[in-house]
Amino acid sequence: MSFPKNRMRRLRSSPVIRRLVRETMVSVDDLIYPLFVREGKGIKEPIKSMAGCYHFSADTIGAEAADVASLGIPAVLLFGLPDKKDEIGSLAWAEDGVVQRAIEQIKRAAPELLVITDVCLCEFTSHGHCGVVEDGKVDNDSTCGLLAKMALSHAQAGADIVAPSDMMDGRVKCIREALEENGFENVAIMSYAAKYASAFYGPFRDAAESAPAFGDRRAYQMDPPNAREAMAEIALDIKEGADMVMVKPALAYLDVIYRARQRFDCPIAAYNVSGEYVMVKSSAAAGLLDEQAAMMEVLTAIKRAGADMIITYFAKDAAKLLT
Ligand code: PBG
Repeated sequence: MSFPKNRMRRLRSSPVIRRLVRETMVSVDDLIYPLFVREGKGIKEPIKSMAGCYHFSADTIGAEAADVASLGIPAVLLFGLPDKKDEIGSLAWAEDGVVQRAIEQIKRAAPELLVITDVCLCEFTSHGHCGVVEDGKVDNDSTCGLLAKMALSHAQAGADIVAPSDMMDGRVKCIREALEENGFENVAIMSYAAKYASAFYGPFRDAAESAPAFGDRRAYQMDPPNAREAMAEIALDIKEGADMVMVKPALAYLDVIYRARQRFDCPIAAYNVSGEYVMVKSSAAAGLLDEQAAMMEVLTAIKRAGADMIITYFAKDAAKLLT
């Protein structure tokens, strides 16, 4: 059938018919909100590089978590900023570390909210790399052991899901073994399986004080032109024991999300990263685009590509719009 009998516009002619034939829906159930916790007391400080985002201290983060939960958002992703850093990032697995205390406070204030923790050393090391540096290079195997210690300490503090974001080889296996051996077989692993060495992390590194002091992360994070390699990374992480996998960033990697969705059956998360957020926020602040419409278009595109869940600094704004 062709024109004039076929008219595609018939199914676009009113809001209600568009609603009926809509293929992709973003729901509040898909959203994960990142939270930053730092040492100190009574802190709720705006993050300069990320309009609308804040640093909290462990004593104020509970109230924020309760607010997030009251919007119907199922989960938060927690990042920690310690007040002291060293060569190996040893505060990352301290029993009274900033993340460990924050988990406790979040669980107390909002018991039903899932707590996902970022497992990576870059916020905790003096050199800002995601692992142990030996001879100017990040050493893979010694880093894995430390990541396992970090993940285990998060589980001991009450984390529901640990999310390794360092891109070392074999770290999912190490973490899974540490969890199993210590009675945390029910703690899930959300692996940042296909994480690219992206320029879009810029605002976050400012927020997390985690920019590398020398060099860059290209020797461990993925090379942006490669998509088949992402499938190999994801397959390995699933084999090593990941329950969910992530593609990061999201917007410039929608094809990778799509390919992963065709290929794998486990839940797939996408990280709508800081640079993607700031692009929309700053354009809107400059009066160049409609913030809410652009936000929903971005989130819908990530969902349409095949993500089951979206980690996004827009989670609270989107939740308000969706419920
Ligand atoms: C590192 C980590 C990064 C992000 C999440 N975890 C930055 C990096 O790899 O340099 C980026 C998140 C964002 O940009 O929103 N552990």
